[in-house]
Amino acid sequence: MAGSLRRASWNRHLLHAAAAQAPAGMTIEVFDALAAVPLFDEDLELAQPDGPPGVRALRTAVAAADGLLIATPEYNHALPGVLKNALDWLSRESPQGEVLTERPVAVLGASGGPWGTRLAQASLRQVLHTCGALVMPSPTLFVAHAAQRFDAQGQLADPALQASLSRFMQAFAAWIGRVAVPA
Ligand code: FNR
Repeated sequence: MAGSLRRASWNRHLLHAAAAQAPAGMTIEVFDALAAVPLFDEDLELAQPDGPPGVRALRTAVAAADGLLIATPEYNHALPGVLKNALDWLSRESPQGEVLTERPVAVLGASGGPWGTRLAQASLRQVLHTCGALVMPSPTLFVAHAAQRFDAQGQLADPALQASLSRFMQAFAAWIGRVAVPA
């Protein structure tokens, strides 16, 4: 999933570009309904133990996946609130269990500026570690100057980044194979 609600999000473009580089045997399903996840509220959780519909959809998608790939924007040197909110819901006990615990996760991100979401990814990793996710330590991928990497249709227009994404996705497949806990 991409941690942005913006229609022309660089991070959504990046996620689709990463999916296109998935190695043989790996299929990426893009979760594109973060806008339907309400603000986390323990009262809401108590009233609906299965979670509101938007949360159930997110949880079901994560629980069904062998791994979770997150493309994060950077807001004020941290992960955006919509993404943190989704992770807060996913961190909770549910009929599907705590779906981030022991789940293999990889993070990447794109920003318009020169740092490529370094601080957002650091804060995202911190949250994921707290949730017990198994976050791929390397390779890292910080996409700076995002406007120069994609064309007007949001298609990747940077062969070097395409090669990096291919290596990143191969590493993620290997990471899942290495750390996945048998069901
Ligand atoms: C930003 N942006 C930004 N960029 C960055 O490199 N470091 C930062 O700390 C911030 N902070 C920040 C705060 C807020 C509230 C906004 C709205 C934006 C710019 C940000 O990287 C840019 O808007 C990206 O395009 C957001 O990602 P998507 O939506 O394109 O995926």
